[in-house]
Amino acid sequence: MKLIQLSDIHLTAPGATIGGRDPRRNFERALAHVLRDHHDAELMVITGDLSDWGDRDDYLWLRTTLDAFPIPTRLCIGNHDRRDVFLGVFPEYDDGGFVQGMHDVSAGRCLFLDTVEPNTHAGRYCDARQVWLQRQLTGHPGPFLLFMHHHPMPTHLGPMDRIGLSDGAAFRSIVGAHRNRIRHVFFGHCHLPLAGSIGGVPTSSLRGTNHASFPLFSETAMLSASDLPQSYGVCFVGADYVTVHMVEFGYDGPIRVEGSPEYTAWDRETMVR
Ligand SMILES: [Fe+2]
Ligand SMILES: [Fe+2]
Repeated sequence: MKLIQLSDIHLTAPGATIGGRDPRRNFERALAHVLRDHHDAELMVITGDLSDWGDRDDYLWLRTTLDAFPIPTRLCIGNHDRRDVFLGVFPEYDDGGFVQGMHDVSAGRCLFLDTVEPNTHAGRYCDARQVWLQRQLTGHPGPFLLFMHHHPMPTHLGPMDRIGLSDGAAFRSIVGAHRNRIRHVFFGHCHLPLAGSIGGVPTSSLRGTNHASFPLFSETAMLSASDLPQSYGVCFVGADYVTVHMVEFGYDGPIRVEGSPEYTAWDRETMVR
């Protein structure tokens, strides 16, 4: 089974840019790239920071755009989103006042988590949401795939961890208690390719579809930005494996295919023995 992860699309007013990049244009580029190479994907999930300022017009545009997109899509919100404004446009995501829910695919049950806390960029997984997650995990045999915005483990990048998940330890203990039935945890927020595990369950993230960060460990106070390529994720879930790619669709340099003249010209003096 194949699924697509997009993250941190940060939609803005038409023509407005972030880091010199147009989020709407880059989102459309990502969708076109996904359709070209992955029209057979069973599900696409966008893991939050849908709108840069939580503007209703961004959600209306997103709804219209996704209505015309042939791959089923599910959404999480992030710290840049406004839950009330989002739910005004996507009311079907309302579950107990949070943007959370489920969707079954052939590989199991996907759970979409809400890690947003109003008026802060840090994430929260409060008691009410923990109860919801435990109920989901105990009420179905699984296996499960989890999707969320904030990083569920420390990155050890100081500025990033100051806007991390404040209830991370409690969240990880719930995941750990059900580790044998959770195949993978997907997250966004960091605008960085990341991999690791929480409570024994593998987890990964990727660069967003617009602006990119950089793991600048020497900077301890401020977040970092770079011009690394825009990306989306492709995930394959097999019976006994999970494979996650980060596809840098924003890369505009050459890609040389073996056997082509370009590949032959690029190849190979260092490889000839
Ligand atoms: Fe973001
Ligand atoms: Fe974020």
